[in-house]
Amino acid sequence: MIKINSFSSFFIANWKLNGNFKFIDQFTSELKIPNNVAKCVVICPTSIHLDYIRNKKNNFYVGAQNVSQHKEGAYTGEISCASLSDLKIEFCIVGHSERRQIFNETNTNVNSKSSQLIEHDIVPIICIGETLEEKENGETNDVLSKQLEESIPKFSNSDNTIIAYEPVWAIGTGLTPSFEEINNTHKFIKNYNNKYNNYKIIYGGSVKANNAKEIVSLSNVDGALIGGASLKSDDFTKIIED
Ligand code: 13P
Repeated sequence: MIKINSFSSFFIANWKLNGNFKFIDQFTSELKIPNNVAKCVVICPTSIHLDYIRNKKNNFYVGAQNVSQHKEGAYTGEISCASLSDLKIEFCIVGHSERRQIFNETNTNVNSKSSQLIEHDIVPIICIGETLEEKENGETNDVLSKQLEESIPKFSNSDNTIIAYEPVWAIGTGLTPSFEEINNTHKFIKNYNNKYNNYKIIYGGSVKANNAKEIVSLSNVDGALIGGASLKSDDFTKIIED
């Protein structure tokens, strides 16, 4: 498994259902990865493109966006942890709010997927976050607590798991919590249980070239999970540059 704690920050590009071979060729030829080896840059393309982009690796790592909770068997269309491991994939996003909302994934599913990833030496990037309604009802910390309790495997630790805080209402909307709110929420997660004190906790939701530096420099933020802006090589280069 990748040594998470050898990095100071993580920049994870979640390409969602976007990209094709031509796009990958162009993106990887334009992308400039900083010399700073303490920054870990991860690109998560569609599953179909994992192997293609892996062969273009150039100081970045490759992650999947999802994995099956089943090991093998009669599960048409699923992709197993063992298959990701065969491809030498280092990271996998788990429990993204789009998976939770559109594909009805539960905390139990997320926990099971994350456990199996860890068993296969793949780092799960476990997503948690509140909806706008939950935020407006003042339920953010309760929602996060439940997601932490139920989604994070018992044997996960700061060496094998990354947590991503993504407020659902900030995804793809151009809206973000204030910097202070982001930092306080990350502090809440780190202090929720001693176990989380040293976890890398990254922020996602409308991270752009013009706010990434300030967000990632917050004392309790260890990187960013980037959607839309990670599809533009010049924006993503700006986000990750020193
Ligand atoms: P945007 O950066 O497009 O808001 O998406 C965030 C996200 O969902 C990353 O996983």
